[in-house]
Amino acid sequence: MTFTVGYFVGSLSGQSINRVLATALIRSAPAELELVEIPIGQLPLYNRDLDADYPPEARELKRTVESVDALLFVTPEYNRSIPGALKNAIDWGSRPWGHNSFAHTPSATIGASPGAIGTAVAQQSLKSILSYCNSPQLNAMEAYIQFRPEAFGEGGEVLDESVRAFLEKFMGEFRDFIARVRTVLPG
Ligand code: FNR
Repeated sequence: MTFTVGYFVGSLSGQSINRVLATALIRSAPAELELVEIPIGQLPLYNRDLDADYPPEARELKRTVESVDALLFVTPEYNRSIPGALKNAIDWGSRPWGHNSFAHTPSATIGASPGAIGTAVAQQSLKSILSYCNSPQLNAMEAYIQFRPEAFGEGGEVLDESVRAFLEKFMGEFRDFIARVRTVLPG
């Protein structure tokens, strides 16, 4: 069975190492997963005064989140949490009250940083947010990537064999998890 996975890149940077990681994840994904990006850079700041009349960018975000089978969050760590742009996108998707687009949609988190703990603290925060948003999550494997530039090619090729094996295992586990969740929670 084939599943569509919407992925978020938490960084807006044109030189983002997490965008490199996202490209590597697409290359590492099993054939049953089709990955489509859910862009976040165009969204205005969330304001609940707009709940009754969502801006078009936020409507599009919710429509896309609701159309996919699963969600993958590829994010940096900013000041031991997730970047504001990603939190803003989640806030839009979770509202208006009673219309939480994340509910029952399976998700996984992963992230890269130059530092040794590889976004672990940010992902703990993100996992808490996704729990509140009622998204069933892949709990194991965990994926905290310490980014080494020599391990990745410019087109997201994974040049390091151990990193490639890890990312392929992660995406395979995610596919199996999506299949299990979608058996009991069909979209
Ligand atoms: C960082 N960085 C960072 N790294 C980390 O491991 N823990 C942290 O808390 C932070 N905090 C932080 C805050 C801000 C505002 C910036 C700009 C950076 C460093 C960060 O991991 C590094 O810049 C990555 O390259 C960011 O990911 P992208 O944007 O390259 O995908």
